Formats: sequence, C-alpha cells, structure tokens
Amino acid sequence: MTLVLGINAFHADAAAALIRDGEILGAVEEERFRRIKHWAGFPAQAIAWCLADAGVRLEDVDHIAINSLPGAHRWRKVAYTLARRPDPRFLWRRWRNKRERAGLAQQLATAFPGSTPKAQLHFVEHHRAHLASAYYASPFPRAAVISVDGFGDFASGAWGYGEGTDLQLDGQIWFPHSLGAFYTAITQYLGFPHYGDEYKVMGLAPYGRPTRMEEMRRIVRLRNDGTYRLDLRYFRHATEDLPHQWSQGTPVVGSHWSGALEQLLGPARRPEEPLEQRHHDIARSAQAMYEEAFFHLLGALHRRHPVDAVCIAGGCGANSVANGKVTVATPFRQVWVQAAAGDAGGALGAALAVWHELGGARSAPMRTAYLGSRSDGDAVAAVLEREDTRRQLVEAGCTIRTLPEARLCEEVAQAIGEGLVVGWFDGRMEWGPRALGHRSILGDPRRADMKDILNHKIKRRESFRPFAPSVLREAVPDWFERDGDVPFMMQVYPIREEKRSLIPAVTHVDGSGRLQTVSEADNGRYYRLISAFAARTGVPMVLNTSFNENEPIVCTPEQALDCFLRTRMDVLVLGDHLIRRPA
Ligand SMILES: [Fe+2]
Repeated sequence: MTLVLGINAFHADAAAALIRDGEILGAVEEERFRRIKHWAGFPAQAIAWCLADAGVRLEDVDHIAINSLPGAHRWRKVAYTLARRPDPRFLWRRWRNKRERAGLAQQLATAFPGSTPKAQLHFVEHHRAHLASAYYASPFPRAAVISVDGFGDFASGAWGYGEGTDLQLDGQIWFPHSLGAFYTAITQYLGFPHYGDEYKVMGLAPYGRPTRMEEMRRIVRLRNDGTYRLDLRYFRHATEDLPHQWSQGTPVVGSHWSGALEQLLGPARRPEEPLEQRHHDIARSAQAMYEEAFFHLLGALHRRHPVDAVCIAGGCGANSVANGKVTVATPFRQVWVQAAAGDAGGALGAALAVWHELGGARSAPMRTAYLGSRSDGDAVAAVLEREDTRRQLVEAGCTIRTLPEARLCEEVAQAIGEGLVVGWFDGRMEWGPRALGHRSILGDPRRADMKDILNHKIKRRESFRPFAPSVLREAVPDWFERDGDVPFMMQVYPIREEKRSLIPAVTHVDGSGRLQTVSEADNGRYYRLISAFAARTGVPMVLNTSFNENEPIVCTPEQALDCFLRTRMDVLVLGDHLIRRPA
C-alpha cells in the first residue's frame, strides 16, 4: 500500500489531497476550515483532515508531493532578469517564496509537532501538476491535455498528451506572457480588485458586445505556432514589484494593468462606480479575446495530437463559458475539466503525478467531487440535539422533523415549487469551488424573481451574476443545445430557445446556462430530489447556488445551521432532518 499526500501551499486556494494506490481518498481546500475565501499559506488543517479521515498518521505517508518546483527553469529566469532589469524587490519576493516552499519539511514539523515523517518529498513543477490533475483523474484512456493560468513556476500555460500511465509535457508559455494575467488585468481595470474576481467579468460579458476586439488583439497577439504573446506596454507584472500576498490569509494580487491600457480603452472603472455599457463591451471583448487565444492554442494542440478528448486545467480552466464552446470551436469532441481546475487541484495533480512516476497503475476516474468532509447521520443528530441549537431553533419558531428520503424529497420539491429558499446539506463536501448538491442552496428555476429573492434573503451579490441549474443527466438534450456530462459545473451550454422562458432564473442574458448534470449512480439523493421536482412541475432541474453567505462554502452541519439562522433561508435540510421557518 502506498500513500501519497499532495499539497498546494504558499499560493491561493491552499489544499491537500491524499491518495492510496492511486485512489483518491480525500481532497479539501484549507479555506473551508479557516473560513477565509481562497486562503493562502500552508494547508495544515486540510492535511490533518485528510490524514484523520483516512485513519492514518503523517508517519504512515510514503510520499509527499507539492505542486511547485523551486528552481525550475532557473536559466530561463536568469536570462529574463538580466534582459529586463526588473525591480530588485520583485526578485526578493520570488526568492522568499521559493525559500518558503523549500522549507516544506519545517512547515510540516511545525504543524505536526512530535511526528517523525518518513515520507519522501517530491517537488512537481506547477503546470505538470495541473496537467496531471486533469488527465489522470479523467475517464479517458488517452487525451490531449492543456493547462492555462496566471503564473506558476515561471510559466502560464502548458500542454501535452496522456496515454495510459504516461503523461508527456510538450511545451509551455513562459512568464511574462499569460492569458490568466490578461484576464486579471481586465478584471482589475473594470473595478473588481479581489483575488478570484475574474468570474464576475465572465458573468458580465454577455451584457456587452465585442466592440473592442481591435484593441484586444493589440494586447494579446496570436502566433502561428498556436501560442500568444502579451504586448507588455499594457501591463505592470513583467517589471514591477506588484504587492502579492500568498501566506497565512486572504490572497492579495497587485494591479496588473499599466497607464497605457487606459489610453487604449479609456478610463478604468473604480469599484464604487456604476457599470456602464462601455464596461460591458470591454468585458465581452476580453472574454472573446480569451476564447480566441484559447481555441487557437487548442487547435495547435489538436494538430499535434489529433484525438477526440481534451482535459483542461489551470485557473483559466474555470472559464466555463469558453470550456462549453470547445466542442464547437475546436476539433476536440470530448471535454473534461477536473472539479478543482485551479491551484487547489494542483495538490491532487502533484500526488497523481508522483504515483504514476513511481510506476503505479492508472488511477480510477474522478466520478464525483464529493471528496471532502463527511457528515453522517450521527454528526447531524448530535448538532440538532444540542441544547443551544434547540433553543435557537425554538426561538426562531422553527419546526424540526426527521423524514424518510422519499417524503423528504417530496416536501423539499414542494417547498422549492412554492418559491421557498432551501439549504440542502447532505453527505461529503464538494472538492473544488462549486457546490454540487451536497452543500447547496436550492430554488425554483421557473421563477423570474428567484434571483431577487435569493439576493434579498441571502446572497446580496451583483445583480448581473447568473445562477446555475442542476439538471437530470438524461434531460440535458431536451433542454440544452449541446449534450454531455458536466458533473462539476465547468461548462456553460446554450439553453434551447423554446425552453428559455420556462426557466428564467437559470437562463443568463445570452440564453446560456452553467449546468451541472446529475446522475442517479453518482448522486442518488440529489437525483431523486430533482426527479420529485420534475414530477411536480415538468422541469427536470433546480436552481443551485453555493451554501454560504459571503464566506467559504459551509463545511460542517454547525456552519450550515448558523448560516440558516443568520439569513432568511426558509428551509434547511440536514441529512434526514427538515427544518422549517414559520411562513
Ligand atoms: Fe496554477
């Protein structure tokens, strides 16, 4: 038996994953325990949880893999530095970051005092870990593989080919050229300053028209070999010491764009300023530019490896709008995106890379993302039996009932159909950024006012951001213009035109929906709930948003209950228990 622990550390979305003989036992992001979104630093609690859940100690782990290789591409970095003469602080920061990663053994000793780990340490280059996380966890026996992100180990993209247990890396895009950096720069320019705000620009894009493509093509220049270069005049990250923060807390990313971008596109928007048509058009143009460059790279990859399947990873792998178009915009016919496409996924990728480098058999496909904290019936019952919990629920006038599953699904389907907001907490927590029916808030997709109800009662998020549907797998071709498995909500499909008016709450302004496909084999109870809703309404889907309120997704039943009590959620399902607020 071989245990490999994978870690993403000293970067945003710190995470840990544990695999045994190639089988994924558990995978979880540190943010869920620390309760700070995208938490960056050393994932001590995630590691501790993975070990405890598997019933092993740190001493039992044979190999520890981290998704970074300090000193990778040293000569490339030296050559770049000599040519560009960047700010000395920039060099200091990079050196410090490298030293932190190299001090991994020390970090483990601090986090697990008294332990004497015997594991061999492996440093897996950042993009090799991304590629491994996508290919080895995929269901494909062979596939082209691509990774696109901001930066990691001096590169921003990589591609290659996987077959059986082999995964070859064919090429990379080097610092400072980066599609992720481009998207981040536009995101910041449009007045969204926080780490991870890029998805807001993706959500905003359909409100605009691609009127600024000429300018975008000046910023990102496609090359004949399938790669691309940035015009560095519009950026600051190449030469300046941007204030980054990657340790012990919320990640902070310095402003990427330069004054030249304002000369090209007009004045930048400050966060408090209203969003105007001009901003919508820039968002749409940037998304279109991203897609143009991404599909250009995929086209070159397919020429090199003319296979049907492609696996996608890296922070830009979360661009579900682009992912959803791959089968129509490129020759690839099958797309698979791992649940944690971003840097958290590098923890899993590093572990899978090491397992296969050791000669291990091909790992089993990741069929579901339910790889995190467990919450069995006893744990939920224990929370509900606590005196303070009872008192809080009684004071709020709530009823608590324990129901058999069929009855529970019936009542919840009815509540959703009445326009109520339901917190749905069941089984193991999801790995990756999406709630997939285990830590979800559910609503009626048929109601045009559902978005307002959710924002009013719980979410308070930007009105332009869409909500997503969880759809019975077999119903996808009836409701969407494309068909396929999208178990991790990583692709956006066009909704059939005649169906759009039936499900306004999950139809984005351009007629698209970021679907999650739900099958009975992989997600029995959630499937049966949606089936109960379909039987009542003829609509085989529910609106699904993450179970949280401006915080990381809830992890424990206590946190779910706490979120229910401090918001105006109507119903909370905790395992077999149904809790209702008075109307
Ligand atoms: Fe990355």
